[in-house]
Amino acid sequence: MRPLTVFFVTTLSCFIATADAQRPRAHEQLYAQLCANCHGADGAGGQGPSLIDDVWTHGSDDNSIARVIAQGSGAGTMPAYGEVLADDQIVSLIVLMRELRNRPQLDAAKEAAAGNNGRYTTDLADFTLTEIFTIDGILWGLAFLPDGRMILSAKSGRIIITDGSISTEISGVPAVHDEGDIGMHDIILHPDYTTNGWIYVAAVVDGDPDSDERRAMTEIIRGRIRDGQWVDEERIFQARPEHRAAGRARLGSRLLFHDGYLYFTIGDGGPGEPSQDLTAPTGKTFRIHDDGRIPVDNPFVGHEDPDVYTAIWTYGNRNVQGLAVQPGTWRMFATEHGPRGGDELNVLTPGTNYGWPLVTFGIDYNGQPVSALQHLPGVQDPLLHWTPSIAVCDIHFYTGTEFPSWQGDLLVTALGQEHLRRLRLDGTRVISQELLISDIGRVRTISEDADGNIYLVTNHRGESPRSHVYRIARKRTK
Ligand code: HEC
Repeated sequence: MRPLTVFFVTTLSCFIATADAQRPRAHEQLYAQLCANCHGADGAGGQGPSLIDDVWTHGSDDNSIARVIAQGSGAGTMPAYGEVLADDQIVSLIVLMRELRNRPQLDAAKEAAAGNNGRYTTDLADFTLTEIFTIDGILWGLAFLPDGRMILSAKSGRIIITDGSISTEISGVPAVHDEGDIGMHDIILHPDYTTNGWIYVAAVVDGDPDSDERRAMTEIIRGRIRDGQWVDEERIFQARPEHRAAGRARLGSRLLFHDGYLYFTIGDGGPGEPSQDLTAPTGKTFRIHDDGRIPVDNPFVGHEDPDVYTAIWTYGNRNVQGLAVQPGTWRMFATEHGPRGGDELNVLTPGTNYGWPLVTFGIDYNGQPVSALQHLPGVQDPLLHWTPSIAVCDIHFYTGTEFPSWQGDLLVTALGQEHLRRLRLDGTRVISQELLISDIGRVRTISEDADGNIYLVTNHRGESPRSHVYRIARKRTK
């Protein structure tokens, strides 16, 4: 389980760092060609009004803004673009306006969330941030062993146990397909670990090692550790052979035990379409027993099409990177890593379609539209979306006693925007958001120890990537 102040449901902005950062973006080009003359290159206004001051003469919701762009206004002073622009291009321009608007807001928030020598003062708590572990490569998952040591998974396929100073690398771990953003992902312990010793990892393994087409698929694997060796290995979820080479990106997986079941996620594998196809494993969340058996009350058990994956819990999910259960309501929250814009916070309910790629608040990384639709009958809307994207990742409802004022809050990590934020919720309504920490690297994973201290795993990309584990503890007055 996992847990921010006041950026309203609108968001912080800026660009997600993507490999194609230098390429011209379609929506920026459109804006520069058609709109910048009157509204200013930065959107702050000129002949036409400012598009970034949050003052809207014709309504602030997406539909009203889209209508003005399509139909024009002000007795012809704002031209009508309905004949020139497709609906999805208009959506991409609205995303761009949000990006432009949020730039100054983000700068101000970042300044506020910059720690002074590892000391942070935020709305409800003061805390310290201390680096306790660092290693080459991309660390992914973090769990705590009963003796307080950390067990960490690395994308390259390493499992490491450490107390911060003395580390052991586990040998004989499953071989993974380490490429781009895929490899070994989350690691968790069975709830009865002390008696049964089971450890679970989500790992992307080669589809066909002999093929040049280097494509691969996520498997859920459990094993035990004995004398520094990975033993008793069992593959408890495997896609059918025809799907074992389903993707080369976004196969990432988060694991969570809840109510005696193991929940896990698989991203859309790159192309989004299979997310809507119940006979494909990509773009879904799953629910299985701890040994891989399918629960008889799963939503698609007994489906008329025998090829449907009955382990599926929800579908139409682009790339779920965070899973957490809300204390008290026991609702399962999930964060979904969007394209450019349209990072989502959802509550997962069995059998539900979350819409990817039919509906999205985002556009493609290059600025090209994905879909003009943001709502569809039969598709669940997110509780909240971050547009522009923060590149949302892991989540955790805070339950510890170290930060009483954060209890029940949802802590949310961001890769692209490299920050940690805190959401205050009233049930499923997000009341406020606070940026707690920024600029500490791509925040991949969040966890809480038995004492209520919070741990972050951060990744630093580049030629020789490095990762860090940080501890957040209450600032104590001497
Ligand atoms: C020739 C100048 C001109 C160009 C080009 C232009 N606009 Fe406008 N725009 C205006 C003016 C003037 C208004 C105010 C009209 C009104 O309030 O009735 C306006 C209003 C708007 C509004 C409504 C603002 C509000 O407060 O509700 C939006 C949104 C908008 N423009 C977006 C765009 C986009 C997107 C483009 C490019 C596709 C664009 N405009 C191109 C002049 C222009």
